[in-house]
Amino acid sequence: MIKRTYPNSRLRRTRAKSFLRDLVAENNLTTDDLIQPIFIADQSENQSEIPSMPGIYRHNLDSLYSEVEAISKQEIKSVAIFPAIDSSKKDQKGSHALDEKNIVCLALSGIAKRFPEIIKIADVALDPYTDHGHDGLLIDGRVENDQTLALLQKQALLLAQSGADIVAPSDMMDGRVKAIRDILESNSFFDTVILSYAAKYASSFYGPFRDAIGSSANLDGASKKTYQMNFANKDESLHETSMDIEEGADIVMVKPGIAYLDVVSAIKSEFQIPTFVYQVSGEYSMLKSSIENGWLDKNVMLESLLCCKRAGADAILTYAAKDIASELNS
Ligand code: PBG
Repeated sequence: MIKRTYPNSRLRRTRAKSFLRDLVAENNLTTDDLIQPIFIADQSENQSEIPSMPGIYRHNLDSLYSEVEAISKQEIKSVAIFPAIDSSKKDQKGSHALDEKNIVCLALSGIAKRFPEIIKIADVALDPYTDHGHDGLLIDGRVENDQTLALLQKQALLLAQSGADIVAPSDMMDGRVKAIRDILESNSFFDTVILSYAAKYASSFYGPFRDAIGSSANLDGASKKTYQMNFANKDESLHETSMDIEEGADIVMVKPGIAYLDVVSAIKSEFQIPTFVYQVSGEYSMLKSSIENGWLDKNVMLESLLCCKRAGADAILTYAAKDIASELNS
């Protein structure tokens, strides 16, 4: 047993100089770790502000391509696309999700053409397209699991056909990963990656995202609790993740991030498969607004992301990706 006692051990020795601290650093954040979520909308103006997300905009397709260019200049390799769908196109079943001319499909093929090297991630879930804002089919006030699976399969296939490198089921229906893997395999999309939101909690940290895509108008705050996880639970996240791996997930994700790093750590050490974290809208807005008000130092953003790495994240979806990358590159 090594005795780690003073003064043989003075831990301040390796903290004395900045380069020395770098040499002994156990974790590091680079642009390889960052994924930029981007909001798109059917709109004539290039960019529209999202009041609850300072510095983040909804883009039309022209503006999306400029944004992807700016992001790739900062050496970010991946983007995740989320649509704000015009309310006239929403219905009870989210039918527009299956329209090959919807804005997500156009954006995926447009990015593929212009930026072939960029990895494109697309969510599989119906909430941007349903008039009630739920991720699945609502039947007699209940989100129906198995009928939703059939729609998610079609949506995932369409996203892959439109050019998505990674499809990311965020709906939390049981059995969705298997359903999606089956349809991809049977249509020869052997290399489409499934990034499953394996441990997605029913969280109030998603509020600004729902403003951004306009999915909250008719949603009552508690109602996603019948499919998203209870934030009291950790064992259940291992159960969820093991099922998703078994069903064919290549990468698993925990969401939200900063208040859920115990879950990240548990999943990474149990399964040793690629594990991502989503630093969600509410976390971003909380930190960003405090930075803008001068209440927190701007380094708090990098700190929160590096802590995700320390917990075991291999990559992080964060709205701050572009800004942090430009800091890392300067
Ligand atoms: C929708 C989805 C949500 C987020 C990503 N995909 C919101 C929700 O479940 O209501 C949240 C992301 C964020 O808050 O940044 N299935």
